[in-house]
Amino acid sequence: MSDFSSNSEFNRFRKHRFVHEKRLRSYPAVKLCRLGVSNALRGTGIGSILLSFMIRLYSRSSRAGCRFITVDAYQSAVPFYAKNDFLPLSNRDTSSYTRMMYFDLGTMADDGEDAITSRKI
Ligand SMILES: CC(C)(COP(=O)(O)OP(=O)(O)OC[C@H]1O[C@@H](n2cnc3c(N)ncnc32)[C@H](O)[C@@H]1OP(=O)(O)O)[C@@H](O)C(=O)NCCC(=O)NCCS
Repeated sequence: MSDFSSNSEFNRFRKHRFVHEKRLRSYPAVKLCRLGVSNALRGTGIGSILLSFMIRLYSRSSRAGCRFITVDAYQSAVPFYAKNDFLPLSNRDTSSYTRMMYFDLGTMADDGEDAITSRKI
């Protein structure tokens, strides 16, 4: 909830994300602080492999009890997170230094497959 600027913004998010599920007052999330790949190795897929590892680490099947992975992404890294199926939390920060994004672990099947992209992680 503290990641949202107002109750109504949080309610909009809940309504959109939890259509047929009971809506709660808050959801367990883990925040990814800063991910970095050596300059020499950027663009070789290591960042995506590390993200996949983290998604698996916190997935339902691992019983970590987490629903979302969130990140305050530098604007320059937004395309990277978007390619890895992270979504923006709101449109409020489109021109801020960082953009809040999230990955919904609820989209993962229990066998560790991403139910939306069918990407095996
Ligand atoms: C952001 C970062 C972690 C990505 O790691 P990486 O190993 O270079 O990323 P990948 O090779 O897995 O890239 C995955 C996809 O995202 C794209 N991508 C990665 N960084 C991008 C960027 N800055 N802008 C646009 N697209 C980007 C890649 O082109 C790739 O797309 P493709 O699969 O179509 O080729 C790395 O570039 C980095 O350390 N950046 C500096 C630190 C930083 O900004 N970290 C983010 C903190 S929030």
